[in-house]
Amino acid sequence: MARVLTGVQSTGVPHLGNILGAMLPAIEMSNQSENEAFLFIADLHSLTTVRSAEVLRNNTYGTAAAWLALGFDADKNTFYRQSDVTEVTELTWYLNCFTPYPMLANAHSFKDKSNRLSDVNAGLFIYPVLMAADIILYDADVVPVGKDQKQHLEMTRDIASSVNSQYGDVFVLPEAVIDEKVMIIPGIDGQKMSKSYNNFIDIFLPEKELRKQVMKIVTDAKALEDVKDPEDSIIVDLYSFLANDEELGAMKANYLAGNYGYGHAKQALFEVILDRFGNARQEHSRLMADLNAIDEVLLKGAEKARLVAQNTLQRVRSKLGYHS
Ligand code: ADP
Ligand code: TRP
Repeated sequence: MARVLTGVQSTGVPHLGNILGAMLPAIEMSNQSENEAFLFIADLHSLTTVRSAEVLRNNTYGTAAAWLALGFDADKNTFYRQSDVTEVTELTWYLNCFTPYPMLANAHSFKDKSNRLSDVNAGLFIYPVLMAADIILYDADVVPVGKDQKQHLEMTRDIASSVNSQYGDVFVLPEAVIDEKVMIIPGIDGQKMSKSYNNFIDIFLPEKELRKQVMKIVTDAKALEDVKDPEDSIIVDLYSFLANDEELGAMKANYLAGNYGYGHAKQALFEVILDRFGNARQEHSRLMADLNAIDEVLLKGAEKARLVAQNTLQRVRSKLGYHS
């Protein structure tokens, strides 16, 4: 059985791009009986940039509710908040002492963030070490991540190997799984959908606001009666990820026939979102109205995670020369 582990940032509610590109595939993988998934919300990492307790807390609940509402099975797998298993911070210290300073100083994401942000704190600098601790604390075999995290996984292996070569086999070396051909879901302006471009669709919004977002999708100025090109339409692109073949075929035919406005196409897209995510939307609002229910799931997950974490730490402490 492979132990698959991944962490998700808690920077706001996941959008349609995150859901189709990352979350649903991860949920599918976690449901397979040969895999055991560890999934956590990386809320300690968030403190490198978030400066509001309320924002931090709400983002964590919103993210957790989204995973649960979309069908992540927290009983079969292990689902927790990073900050609930404080063992990770102890391991981070040990790993810090095996991490060469230049490795951190030259990391792409650190260079990028330190150029952009006014507050360049030491947390940002050791971000990759905390991430390495997240992974090796749980003896993870496989870590599915986006391309932007590839270097962090290489650093994790380097740090773990350095400990192993000096102290014997202490850590499992994790393999990154990077899906090179991930689909790219366009945002309402046609660029990649992203929180940073503010062009996203939040499927968990109340109906009226969700419809408003869909209605903002950019189109050309063709009139209702004009023939339209289905191969050059953000609406059709988005629809193709959600509708079945018959529905998609019908929309394309309508484009080519004329007398079918972009407003009609947007309405069809809105309806397919409601149809496909109706249950998830309901479950998400139920959870967000009962944060204790989310806490309960996460704390149960943390208890499961802590058993593994304590076991690893005991091994590490004893290998390094500390009382265990
Ligand atoms: P954002 O760009 O909104 O900040 P993140 O970088 O936090 O999103 O991405 C979280 C996960 O969602 C990653 O695995 C990423 O590959 C996936 N993802 C984000 N945006 C899209 C998109 N437009 N299409 C497909 N997958 C996406
Ligand atoms: N740094 C990752 C990101 O930005 C999130 C993360 C934190 C993570 N710890 C992890 C991912 C451990 C995989 C494994 O997306």
